[in-house]
Amino acid sequence: MRSNRVGLKLGLVIISVFLIVILFLGFAIDRMFTNFYSAEMRRETEEITSHFTVMANAADTTSEQTMMTFAEFSNVSIFNILESGSVTLHSGVHDSTDRTFIRASDLKKIFSGEKVSLLYEDPSGNRYFVSGQPITAGGVITSALYVMSSTEQMEQSLSGVRNLLILSGTGAFLLALGITWIIAQVLSRPLLQMQKATRKIARGELETRLEIKSKDEIGSLADAINDLAIDLQHYRDTRQELFSNISHELRTPITYLEGYSKVVKDKLYETEEEKDRYLDIIYQEAVRLQHLVDDLFDMAKMEEGKISLVFERIDLSELVEQAVRKVELKAKDKSLRLTNSQSGKASLVHADGKRMEQIVLNLLENAIRYTEQGGIDVHLVYTSKRVTLIVEDTGIGIPEEELPYIFERFYRVEKSRSRQFGGTGLGLSIVKKLVEVQGGELQVSSKLGEGTRFEIQFVLLPDNGEGRT
Ligand SMILES: Nc1ncnc2c1ncn2[C@@H]1O[C@H](COP(=O)(O)OP(=O)(O)OP(=O)(O)O)[C@@H](O)[C@H]1O
Ligand SMILES: [Mg+2]
Repeated sequence: MRSNRVGLKLGLVIISVFLIVILFLGFAIDRMFTNFYSAEMRRETEEITSHFTVMANAADTTSEQTMMTFAEFSNVSIFNILESGSVTLHSGVHDSTDRTFIRASDLKKIFSGEKVSLLYEDPSGNRYFVSGQPITAGGVITSALYVMSSTEQMEQSLSGVRNLLILSGTGAFLLALGITWIIAQVLSRPLLQMQKATRKIARGELETRLEIKSKDEIGSLADAINDLAIDLQHYRDTRQELFSNISHELRTPITYLEGYSKVVKDKLYETEEEKDRYLDIIYQEAVRLQHLVDDLFDMAKMEEGKISLVFERIDLSELVEQAVRKVELKAKDKSLRLTNSQSGKASLVHADGKRMEQIVLNLLENAIRYTEQGGIDVHLVYTSKRVTLIVEDTGIGIPEEELPYIFERFYRVEKSRSRQFGGTGLGLSIVKKLVEVQGGELQVSSKLGEGTRFEIQFVLLPDNGEGRT
């Protein structure tokens, strides 16, 4: 039953409230009917008594006879009592010897002109409404007339009403019990499903999804659990992919290092030049390994959000100029044109100088690496609020359908390019992250076989005269 706790609690509360309401309502209805019937009977008995006293006032024998008949007919007992206490007339079913209902104090009241009425239970348990009124003859009270009306019929009616109340109360209670049970089931079933699903997800079954379609809080909780599972699944998948990518990227240069150092060690070369070429490969691969490890380290830090930035006022023109100078030699080696220009009034940006240089160098290196003829044009455009750095090349370009992916870790356009150009696919993912953390925007457009254009935008610091023109 533990699994159905919420339903049970809810059911108990509803049923208790319902029970209390039903009991109070039943009691109130019962009281209402009892009071109504009693008042009605009292009024009737008093009315009959009044009739009798009027008849008795006529004080002839025929009226006595009529009274007896009338008493029988209206199913009441009557007693005519003198002030002395002796009964002069009696009729009806009530045992005439039982007169305990006639009290001296009541008689006194009647003989002084008042009316009395009371509820009386005889020794055998029958109950009566008793009404006593004075009979007058010639302005003098001659006797007291008591009329006793049995409450039996009224009690029968009342017990009928009570039976009906109990029956309908029980029916309503059973109905409420059923409805409560259904509601509890409806409410607790999705909760149980969610509990099971989250346990499964915790165990690593990340394909688990909930099929709860309701639009209420329960539905949105289920949606949140589904989203969590999707995120975890994505995280697990990308992490696995990342590890396999990392080990693959590390394995390649290590194989080269192993192979070529063995060749050199075992003196398997024929000329000194050949040996130098092998040593050069070993050196290149070591450098590449170094780069890869640096990139991985940067990436790990950025993933954890632990990258520490030193923000300062940066003159982007100067920074770009230095970066261009650094890659000049590489461009020259490939006989590529490399130009650097600027337009607008230069101003400062708020950024981390080292990271900014890393961004620019990455873009420049890519441009040189993926360009075989033509060249690279670097352009800085200053507007009043922003500065845009454009790095445009006339290289091999990137197919349009691959553009959305080039910022993903280890993503390379056509895997064969890597062997040819030697990249690992980490550069742009780092560039993107670095641009984001410094509040910039990054855009790329490219045409296969014609060239690629990267644009990054940063907000300028408010001009306070320190900027260069
Ligand atoms: N200027 C460009 N022209 C053509 N293709 C490009 C250019 N820049 C990037 N690419 C493509 O996008 C891919 C991802 O670039 P990214 O800089 O992330 O990796 P990489 O240059 O291969 O390796 P890394 O920069 O980590 O050494 C590259 O492999 C390349 O195919
Ligand atoms: Mg690159």
